[in-house]
This record gives sequence, structure tokens and C-alpha cells, in this order.
Amino acid sequence: MITNSASGTRIDEVAEGIYRISTPVTAVPGGFTFNQYLIADEEPLLFHTGPRRMFPLVREAIEAVLPPARLRHIGLSHFEADECGAMNEFLAIAPDAAPLCGRIAAMVSVDDVADRKARALADGESLRLGRHEVRWLDTPHVPHAWECGFLFEERTRTLLCGDLFTQPGAEAAPLTRDDILEPSEAMRGELDYWAHSTGTRATLERLADLNPRTLACMHGSAWEGDGASLLRALADRLEGSPRLAAPESAMVR
Ligand SMILES: [Fe+2]
Ligand SMILES: [Fe+2]
Repeated sequence: MITNSASGTRIDEVAEGIYRISTPVTAVPGGFTFNQYLIADEEPLLFHTGPRRMFPLVREAIEAVLPPARLRHIGLSHFEADECGAMNEFLAIAPDAAPLCGRIAAMVSVDDVADRKARALADGESLRLGRHEVRWLDTPHVPHAWECGFLFEERTRTLLCGDLFTQPGAEAAPLTRDDILEPSEAMRGELDYWAHSTGTRATLERLADLNPRTLACMHGSAWEGDGASLLRALADRLEGSPRLAAPESAMVR
């Protein structure tokens, strides 16, 4: 459902009670998308806010599902503009909301920059939203940032996987069962946004062990299928990547 015809912003349910908000942008040649995820429940949760300048579009999309003033948790995977650029704008319109992130993010950035103190979750800590329940998983440096982590929603087995499987292009189906590994690997070939961490395989194995059914990607389509197999296939590709063997970024060559 399109909520802003000028920008093309849309909101679509990709798992029960979980909505993908998506806006096409021209930040990357060939087009790109910024997605946010709304879990509609007694304590509504927004996972990543989008950049600050996108705030009116994201707020408008949320309004199609619930009053944004009801938001209780404003989540982020790691500290970047597309993750939390509009954090303070959302805190201003949602009086009972607080930032939701991992302990490192709260300590290093969020508790300084955000207008309200964060609810910082420990690795493995769960939070009940109503019918939905999310679990925080620390994923340091996967795909990037020391403070990085993801949320796993237990009821729908949805992994809110942030920048994992980042796909290029401005045209992305809200939810696909088509392959997203190859498009995201093509993107990584052009823009090496991954940290070259020795812990990558173990972190991806841990996410695979959750057996996610839906992967809620921040850029491109959300994906439905055997998430464990796809995460292990990604780990295999990363291990086979000469860039991980010999850290050298295409961006600084
Ligand atoms: Fe990122
Ligand atoms: Fe991102």
C-alpha cells in the first residue's frame, strides 16, 4: 500500500503484525531502498527509524497502521543515520517511547545523542510486546559496527536483520521468495560494507540456529524461506571472499 505517491513510500505486512515501510532513494547509482519495520502490538516497536530527513514519510506510513504516538520502542541495529537518524523526532511525538538497542550502542552513542535514555538489552535478552516477543542478539562487526545487533521475533520467526542481505535497486517487492543472496553479493562486490571480522562465521551460525522464516532486510525486499540455509550460504560466500582473506576495501583503493 502506497502511503506517499510523491516519494513512493509504501507499507506492507510481511509477517503477522510486522510491517515493512519502504522508500526508494537515489543515494546509490541504480537506486536503493530504505526500509523500516513496524511491529504492531500492545507495545508497538519500530526497528530503525530511517534517516532524519525521511521522518515525515515514515511517520505517515506508520499512521496507516497505528497512531505513531503509541510507539513504545524505537530500535536500532547500530549507530548510523538510516538506523536512527530520526530517533529524536520519534521520541518527540511518542511520549512513552524509548530507544531500544544493545548495551554497547547505548554506552557509546545512544545515551548521549538520544533525548531519552535507552532501554539497553543484553545479548539474548527478551522483551514481550504483547503477542510478539523479541530477543536481542549481539552481532559485533556483522556486517559492521562494534555495537551491531539484531532482533528476532519469536512468534513469526522473523529476524530483523538490518544490513544483512542488502540488495541494490529502487524496485523491490515487499516480500519475496526469490534469491536475495546473489543480488546482495553483487552489491557487496561494488561497495564492501562488511567489516572483516574473524567472528563472522560463528555469528552467522548463531543466527542460523534460530531458524528464521522471514528475514526483514533494511535494504531491498524482505525474504521468506529457509533462513538458516540462506545465512549459512552467506557465511560460505564470505569465507570464499578474497576481501575477507586480504582486507582491502574497494572504497579506499
Ligand atoms: Fe549499516
Ligand atoms: Fe542500512
